[in-house]
Amino acid sequence: MSSQNILSKNVAVLSGGWSDEREISLQSGTACAEALQEAGFERVELLDVAAPDFIEKLTHGGYDVAFVAMHGRYGEDGCIQGLLEILHMPYTFSGVLASATGTQKDAAKRVYREAGIPVPEGKVVDHELSAEEADHIVYELGLPLFVKPASNGSSYGITRVTKEEDLAQAVITADVAINKVLIEQCVEGMEITVPVIGNDEDAQALPIIEIVTGSDFYDSKVKYEPSELHHVIPARIDETTAKLARKYAVKAHRALGCRGTSRSDFIVQSDGVPVLLETNTIPGMTKSSLLPDAARHAGIEFPELCRRFVEMALGEVSD
Ligand SMILES: Nc1ncnc2c1ncn2[C@@H]1O[C@H](COP(=O)(O)OP(=O)(O)O)[C@@H](O)[C@H]1O
Ligand SMILES: [Mg+2]
Repeated sequence: MSSQNILSKNVAVLSGGWSDEREISLQSGTACAEALQEAGFERVELLDVAAPDFIEKLTHGGYDVAFVAMHGRYGEDGCIQGLLEILHMPYTFSGVLASATGTQKDAAKRVYREAGIPVPEGKVVDHELSAEEADHIVYELGLPLFVKPASNGSSYGITRVTKEEDLAQAVITADVAINKVLIEQCVEGMEITVPVIGNDEDAQALPIIEIVTGSDFYDSKVKYEPSELHHVIPARIDETTAKLARKYAVKAHRALGCRGTSRSDFIVQSDGVPVLLETNTIPGMTKSSLLPDAARHAGIEFPELCRRFVEMALGEVSD
């Protein structure tokens, strides 16, 4: 498809929704819609998925492609992707299965392990812990531990547990009443993130970003502060570690079956091995987010990045 053809496509940018990450999704959506306009798309409209007339607009708006700028529940977990499949509307980023697997951290960890990617040792629990169970888990995994919801994002409900007596409460804080909870060994080391763009065999890692925080972990407060405070590009790691991180990020992207993009978060252990914490199938996409920042360092400006995402979404559709 020529680039002129692409620019004549009508794009619906889907954002908002009902997840904990609604606000950041609205910011991503607004930034992507602006970027697509800057790239030269003739018609770009921003739709809030939670608006009462959303389905009506989507089905009767004459759109050729949906740009999914959503994070978390209903947007990044395969739900909206399922709706778009039913409507036969091409859409950016991963399909139903990769999206659903990527957001279920316990299922995703099984996929990564199978692909030979190191992940933190841990356990999955589906009920509040008794004192005996907490004791047993600490005996097995040691301290400190990270406790987090198996199906969330943006660091909501995450606790770093340093004392056994805090473990049971951390499981409650991670909302064990409504989802499974992961209890993981705390991996000590530098936190890095590796964005990947492309489909299947063409998937390529972008420059690796080192995440610098003054706090215990990359929590939601830090995530949405100005990026220059927290991103170091390229990460200050040696080439052997960088190579391994790129390899694992591309492997995770392919193992999940991601399309368009993904962004894998790692902690680099003292032996130089990057341990995968999670792969985000729709990373934050405001101008100062990690993925656009890495792309810029690779010479890909944000409008160009968004244009490529639409191109990849339409790649498999004959016109
Ligand atoms: N096992 C772990 N070891 C060390 N740090 C962790 C671990 N799990 C989570 N973290 C910290 O918590 C942050 C959020 O965890 P993550 O699994 O990426 O959840 P979210 O989906 O909320 O981003 C990470 O960026 C990292 O700083
Ligand atoms: Mg994360």
